Amino acid sequence: MEYQNFLADLAIRAGKNAQNMQSQITEGDVSCKATVRDIVTAADQATEKLIRQAIEERYPDHRFYGEETGKSANNGSPYCWIVDPIDGTVSYYENQPFWCTSIALWKDGKPLAGAVYAPDLDELYYAEIGQGATCNGRPIHVKSHGTLETSVVSTGFACLRAGWTKKNNVPYFAEIGMHCRGVRRFGSAAMDMCYVACGKSDAFWELNIQPYDLAAAAVVLLEAGGKITDLRGGEDFPYQGTLATNTVLHDEMLTYFQGYTRPEK
Ligand code: IPD
Ligand code: CA
Ligand code: CA
Repeated sequence: MEYQNFLADLAIRAGKNAQNMQSQITEGDVSCKATVRDIVTAADQATEKLIRQAIEERYPDHRFYGEETGKSANNGSPYCWIVDPIDGTVSYYENQPFWCTSIALWKDGKPLAGAVYAPDLDELYYAEIGQGATCNGRPIHVKSHGTLETSVVSTGFACLRAGWTKKNNVPYFAEIGMHCRGVRRFGSAAMDMCYVACGKSDAFWELNIQPYDLAAAAVVLLEAGGKITDLRGGEDFPYQGTLATNTVLHDEMLTYFQGYTRPEK
């Protein structure tokens, strides 16, 4: 696979860099983005710098889009690296294990290759379109599970963090929670989607994630036989929400979001 050596090695190196920094991160290394609930640490920034430098050295003609340093100038290249240096920053800051480094390469706005590495769990998810998906080198596939009532699903609440007070994820969480075996809020959208890819859960949805949250895990999930749409069943994800499933459950999950449209706030 064309990108595997570079991409997988970089995800591991970056993840271990963040892990090594974790014990030194104190309150003074944390700043807030839009609200006090939306934090970024010195490790997020240092890890993205490490990743961006490696990519710009190896692929100087490609474009870059990272959560912490933003977008490179549009030089017309069809290739764009989409990076979330630490997905699950709150988990990382609280020394909980569910966080990861997420690095993706998209071409012409479509998934091409992705690596998601969770250092505390020692799980490396990797996929390239047309080549299958693996976890630590072993092939993975979604669970061909049928019904919501016997499924475990996961979600997140970035909408609350962003101040969506009128229309947000709480009613969906309550309604779906009453009709499934279990709901999880792990704390990392990328890992949520990789868990669907390897059959550890059956579906993930969220109202307000960003392209860098899902860019790498989308490659893993699609190559593992999963499906991703917005919450109306279309392709306008993540703007109109994100629904990532084992495919079998997709249509039943969509029934809970009928008429969804992104709220003004
Ligand atoms: C967040 C995590 C969280 C999800 C949020 C994301 P961050 O990413 O993935 O699980 O609910 O929507 O923003 O901020 O930790 O990189
Ligand atoms: Ca993220
Ligand atoms: Ca992040």
